[in-house]
Amino acid sequence: MKEAISTKILCISFAVFLFVSSETSVKSMAFKLFDAHCHLQDQRVLEKAPQLIETAVGAGVVYMAVDGITEKDWHLVQEMSEGYESVIPNFGLHPWFVEGRSPSWFDTLKQLFEANPSAAVGEIGLDKSSLAKGVDFGQQVEVFKKQLQLAKELKRPASVHCLEAFPELLQIMKEMGHFPSGVILHSFNGAAEVVPQLTKLGSYFSFSGHLIPLQEDEARKIVKAVPLDRILLETDSPDAMPTNPIYFVPGNATLNQPANVQSILIYVASLLEMNTEELAEISYNNTVRVFSFRGSKIASKP
Ligand SMILES: *[C@@H]1O[C@H](CO)[C@@H](O)[C@H](O)[C@H]1NC(C)=O
Ligand SMILES: *[C@@H]1O[C@H](CO)[C@@H](O)[C@H](O)[C@H]1NC(C)=O
Ligand SMILES: [Zn+2]
Repeated sequence: MKEAISTKILCISFAVFLFVSSETSVKSMAFKLFDAHCHLQDQRVLEKAPQLIETAVGAGVVYMAVDGITEKDWHLVQEMSEGYESVIPNFGLHPWFVEGRSPSWFDTLKQLFEANPSAAVGEIGLDKSSLAKGVDFGQQVEVFKKQLQLAKELKRPASVHCLEAFPELLQIMKEMGHFPSGVILHSFNGAAEVVPQLTKLGSYFSFSGHLIPLQEDEARKIVKAVPLDRILLETDSPDAMPTNPIYFVPGNATLNQPANVQSILIYVASLLEMNTEELAEISYNNTVRVFSFRGSKIASKP
């Protein structure tokens, strides 16, 4: 008799526990996001950066990777990282700016990585599109190889810009071997056909507002070619404003911002015919995994 009562009490308390737990999970439904690539150091938004970071964090963007593009902006990225726990610093020389590099650019870069164990490599890359018209491709290759090799040696991920240069990218990556710390194909809109080879070499594929202007069928083909455990989301802000945005830079509707990574999430989830929260969790976990290299802000979290 006594036993039966205590069993009954146990059952009731278990039911209450289940009820409370499900209530809790409903309340904590707001998902976490990670903007895998943006440029808050850009002169167009630098002054507003504190406000943009606050807006992003308020919208569930726990981390944002801020990518430097030239020797001139690396110190801005470093300062922002020192000021905000949510900012993951990335240093790199972007392909559009290789010709303006100083003789000491690579030494400066190496010193920056020594001084900043939490920094990843980026933005680096190869560009044969009209956007890089006039920039010597030979120099792009030389600068890119040095930085990609450095990322490999430092065991840190590299954020790569690649436009109309996938055969060259594949060739270089194959020569260097597998990238266990990850290579992030940022604002990826390459052909679905290159995805398997890049995946095998250790790549992740990060989608941004640059995906939105593509035909929906084409975008769907690209997104579906990527294994779920390699999908990342980014804004590339202040560029690549997603159409149908949820948030805008206050006072300037032409500039994108990290909080808009939610718009990218919603679009990519719709292409994958997947639940938004599920993709949020998968992509957040993927990005945390890539940016959890030794010395990173995320890896040093208890
Ligand atoms: C918004 O930003 C763009 C790009 O920097 C600039 O050309 C434009 O004048 C800005 N508009 C306003 C209203 O500030
Ligand atoms: C994401 O990571 C969390 C924490 O490690 C884990 O509990 C959860 O199951 C993961 N979700 C997915 C979809 O992998
Ligand atoms: Zn970029």
